[in-house]
This record gives sequence, C-alpha cells and structure tokens, in this order.
Amino acid sequence: MSRVSRWVVLVTAALGPAACGEAPPPVAVPGADREAEQFLARHWARPLAPQGEPPVHAKAHGIDLTPGSCAGCHAAQFDDWRTSLHAHAMGPGVLGQLVNMDADARDEHRSCIRCHAPLHEQEESLVRALSGTSDGAADTSSGGGTPLHEQGLVCAACHLRGYTWYGPPRRDGSLPAGDLSRSPHNAWQASPAFSDSRFCAACHQFEPDGYALNGKLLENTYAEWQASRHAREGRHCQSCHMPQRRHLWRGIHDPEMVRQGVDIRAGAPAVGAGQVAAILVLRNSGTGHHFPTYVTPRVVLEGYQEGADGRMIGGTLRQQVVARQVALDLSREIADTRIPADGEARFDYRAPVAPGAAALVLRVRVEPDAFYTAFYQSILSDGSAGRGAPHIRAALARSRASAFTLYADRQPLPPAGQRE
Ligand code: HEC
Ligand code: HEC
Ligand code: HEC
Ligand code: HEC
Ligand code: HEC
Repeated sequence: MSRVSRWVVLVTAALGPAACGEAPPPVAVPGADREAEQFLARHWARPLAPQGEPPVHAKAHGIDLTPGSCAGCHAAQFDDWRTSLHAHAMGPGVLGQLVNMDADARDEHRSCIRCHAPLHEQEESLVRALSGTSDGAADTSSGGGTPLHEQGLVCAACHLRGYTWYGPPRRDGSLPAGDLSRSPHNAWQASPAFSDSRFCAACHQFEPDGYALNGKLLENTYAEWQASRHAREGRHCQSCHMPQRRHLWRGIHDPEMVRQGVDIRAGAPAVGAGQVAAILVLRNSGTGHHFPTYVTPRVVLEGYQEGADGRMIGGTLRQQVVARQVALDLSREIADTRIPADGEARFDYRAPVAPGAAALVLRVRVEPDAFYTAFYQSILSDGSAGRGAPHIRAALARSRASAFTLYADRQPLPPAGQRE
C-alpha cells in the first residue's frame, strides 16, 4: 500500500463514519439553542443532496453554483473569498492525492471533499475529471470555466441547499420577511446558526470517535475553543476569523493575523562567566484555541549570536519547537508543545559567548505547512505520489514558500573587554 493511500485510509478511518450526516459535536455553550443545532445537522448532513434546477429568476440573472455568478451583486464577499484558503481548498496538494483514486471510489473522494469541496455537483465534477469524460468547455456545472470541484469551498457550499438561499439575519438583526422582490434569488432563509462556532465545527472538529493520537483528536479546534475564555466571553470563530462578516478567514498563513493572537517579549541578554543568557516568552493572548491548533504548522522559538558582519555564528543556534508533531504516516504523536489559550511558552537561550559575537538575535519563525512539506518530500522521493507527482511538486513549492519570520529582536552584546 502506498504512502498516499495509507494516509487516505487513516483519514478515512478518522472521518468516514462522520461523513454520514451525523450532527456536529454536542452543544456545551450555555443557552445555545436547539434550533441552531437542528439547522446545522440538516445543513451539514453529508454527502450533500443535489441542488436541483435553479429557480427561473436565478436563471434569468445567470446565477448558478459558481462563486463568479454571485460576484456581480456580492462583490465584497467575492473579492474577500477569492483571496482566502477556502477558495483554494482544492489546491495541488489535495488534487495530487485525489488523482490517484479510482473514478468510481466515491467514498474515498468523499473522505476528502466533504470538507474541501462538499457540493454534490462538485463530486460529480470530480468523477467526470477522474474518468476523463469532462471536457472543460462543455462542463455546464462550471459555466464553462474551471471545473466546479477545483473551485474549492464555494459560496453555495455554505449558503445554498436545494437552490434555497440561507444566511445570517441582516446586520440590524431583521429577518427576510415581507417584500422579498428585491432579492433576485427571490427569497432567502435566515438562521442565527451562521454566527455560531458550530457552523465551522462541521469541518474544523472531528467527531468524538474520530481519529485520535495519544488520546487527543487529530482535529480538535472547536473543543479547544469551548474550553477557552473566548467561548465563555461569547467570542465565536466568526468574531476573529470573519470580523464585520468579512470572508477572509485569515489564519496561521497570515503574519498579521498570527501577531494579533500572540504576545511576544524578549528579555535583555545577560553576559557572565563566558555565557550569554536571555529569555523569550510567547503568550497565546488572543488565539481562540491552541496555538497552533493543527498538527500541520510548526512554530520555532530560536536564538543565535551574530558577528559584526550580521551573520549567524556557527554553533550558537538554540531552538525550541511549539507544535503538535506527529509521524508522517499519522501512526503516533512525537510531541505536543502547543500553547493552550492564555498559556505561554518560555525559551531560555543559554550558550557560550562566541568569539566575535556582536549581537544576540531572538526570533520566532512560523512554518504553516511544515507537516505537508515533509509529507510531500517523502511521497515524491519514494514514488508513491504516482500520477499526482506534478501536482505534489507544485504543492511542495507552495508549502515551503509559506514560512515567515513572525518576530525578531536583535540586541548588542557588550564588547569583549566589558564582559564580566
Ligand atoms: C443579481 C444580484 C444577486 C446575485 C447574482 C446574487 N445575490 Fe444574493 N442577494 C441579493 C439581494 C438583493 C439580497 C437580499 C438582501 C436582503 O434581503 O437584505 C441577497 C441576499 C443574499 C444572502 C443573505 C444575506 C444575509 O444577510 O444573510 C446571501 C447569503 C446571498 N444573497 C448569497 C448569494 C450567493 C451565494 C449567490 C450566488 C450563488 C448570490 N447571493 C447571488 C442579490 C444577489
Ligand atoms: C474534517 C475536514 C477535512 C477532511 C475530511 C479533509 N481535510 Fe484536508 N484540510 C482540512 C483543513 C481544515 C485544512 C487546513 C489545515 C491547515 O491549514 O493546517 C486542510 C488542509 C489540507 C491540505 C493542505 C492544504 C492544501 O490545500 O494543500 C491538504 C493537502 C489536504 N488537506 C488534503 C486532504 C486529503 C487528501 C483529504 C482526504 C484524505 C482531506 N484533506 C480530508 C480539513 C479536512
Ligand atoms: C465557509 C462558509 C462560507 C463561504 C464559503 C461563504 N460564506 Fe458567506 N457567510 C458565511 C457565514 C458564516 C456568514 C455569517 C458571518 C457572521 O454572522 O458573522 C456569511 C455571511 C454572508 C452574507 C451576509 C453578509 C452581511 O454583511 O450581512 C453574504 C451576502 C454572503 N455571506 C455571501 C457569500 C458569497 C457571495 C460567498 C462566495 C463569494 C460566500 N458568502 C462564501 C459563510 C460562508
Ligand atoms: C465545508 C467545510 C468547512 C467549513 C464549514 C469551514 N471551513 Fe474553514 N477550512 C476548510 C478547509 C478544507 C480549509 C483548508 C483549505 C486549504 O488550505 O486547502 C479551511 C481553512 C480555514 C482557515 C485557514 C487556516 C490557515 O491555515 O490559515 C481558517 C481560519 C478557517 N478555515 C476558518 C473557518 C471558520 C471561522 C469557519 C466558520 C465560519 C469555517 N472555517 C468553516 C473547511 C471548512
Ligand atoms: C479570539 C480569536 C479567535 C477565535 C475565537 C478563534 N480563532 Fe482561530 N485563530 C485565531 C488566530 C489569532 C489564529 C492564528 C494563530 C494560530 O494559528 O493559532 C487562528 C488560527 C486558526 C486556524 C489556522 C490553523 C492553525 O493550525 O492554527 C484555524 C483553522 C482556525 N483558527 C479555526 C478556528 C475555528 C474553527 C474557531 C472556532 C471554533 C476559531 N478558529 C476561533 C484567532 C481565533
């Protein structure tokens, strides 16, 4: 069995049963209403049912299941969405694994697309592509452009069921009652569930019996949030990830977003007895769950000494990793040093003063896709990327490029003569 299919089987084992329309995780937020719970159980009952025929007035406006067909009237949401990872949820890393599946292995496809491209019509589009019967231009489900499944987590996946529109109540709290003739899709149904964390849990939280390592679910964001101060204070996923209802969903890939979620302090270096010592503290001050929540990113706290030429002096680098590290085949957890909400990590830099050291640099680097980088490298080198190899190579270049420096502090060290 190839690496890829082993990964698929593991994820399938984790998610398979949950794919069959089970309700999202149980409610534990005080006062949470049963109505929202029931709405979400229906809304996210996967596999999703076919939408059917678009209503005549929608047809008249050229509205179908593609985000492009919403853009004319909802330009603000469309312009945000297209830059988000939801819009890129069928990137080369996902497609590169799907192309190794048989065209008729629908359960296998579903174990991925239930989150990455959940519409029934996207499943059909994927099957056509895998069986080689889709002819881009003739693909009516996509309006003749990019096949619908490649468009990722589209507007319709969150807002349309049976070609009925659903959304949150209007910003002033009013509901779509009375004259709906203004709405070209005729009418829409409002549900407060759109502003509730459980809406996101449908894809960002495994079921209680899902795949776990070391007693902890592989995806546990909703439960981490529930246990945090943010849940008690009524701050939902949307409060931080969709401020003013914006459709950006910034997360670990966005340096500004990550900076908003943490508080970093570097102490002044102390030099004595031939040693340099300094402390770097990273506090999870504003992330509504563990920092980071998934097994895929890696955050590195590190320190090193620099010469007068601004270069790192060999042998002075010390590092501490903040991550939930797991084996590439997901068979075991190696370490879990993530920081729960309101917790902190302390990195103690300590090393002999290097000859010629002019400054101490303390910094925090973020590799949002560290797991994927290692995973892609491994399946490319052992050949199990198979037909997906060209996609996986593109995904590898992308996952490497996502790394960034979150924070850097450079403090001069006293010249050799002035050291104690
Ligand atoms: C021709 C213009 C037009 C097109 C195209 C269009 N909409 Fe709308 N949409 C409207 C109008 C007008 C309303 C009514 C706003 C109200 O009642 O406050 C609306 C309401 C909505 C709402 C409810 C807003 C809320 O406050 O919850 C959602 C969600 C929505 N549209 C999504 C979509 C999606 C998704 C598409 C594409 C599949 C789409 N719309 C295509 C004009 C359009
Ligand atoms: C329960 C929902 C869910 C399921 C099911 C799921 N994923 Fe994902 N996937 C996610 C989320 C959420 C992320 C973002 C994680 C991150 O950024 O660290 C992600 C990220 C990824 C990425 C990296 C980002 C990218 O687009 O390249 C790949 C590759 C991927 N998933 C492949 C798969 C494959 C293959 C399957 C099926 C075997 C699958 N996923 C099933 C939710 C899911
Ligand atoms: C991942 C699910 C998801 C996707 C994809 C998505 N939306 Fe939304 N949308 C939401 C949620 C959730 C809200 C409500 C946010 C809140 O209440 O804070 C919302 C709100 C809206 C509203 C009401 C905005 C307002 O200011 O009142 C409109 C209109 C809308 N979405 C249109 C779209 C369009 C158009 C697209 C695609 C370009 C899209 N959405 C993609 C989840 C989604
Ligand atoms: C239908 C499944 C689905 C739903 C519902 C959903 N997401 Fe996602 N989300 C995904 C997938 C899949 C990805 C990863 C996309 C990729 O990179 O391939 C993702 C990515 C993200 C990211 C980007 C993380 C990063 O690595 O930077 C954030 C933030 C996010 N989602 C927040 C939310 C919030 C908040 C909600 C609720 C309003 C929500 N999502 C609802 C499937 C979903
Ligand atoms: C108080 C603000 C806040 C709340 C509430 C919040 N988040 Fe986040 N989230 C952040 C910040 C800041 C980041 C970036 C730092 C990080 O990655 O942990 C982030 C990152 C993420 C990521 C990126 C992946 C990763 O490994 O970190 C995902 C996915 C995500 N959040 C989903 C959710 C979901 C789902 C909920 C609700 C259950 C939620 N968030 C609630 C602030 C918040």
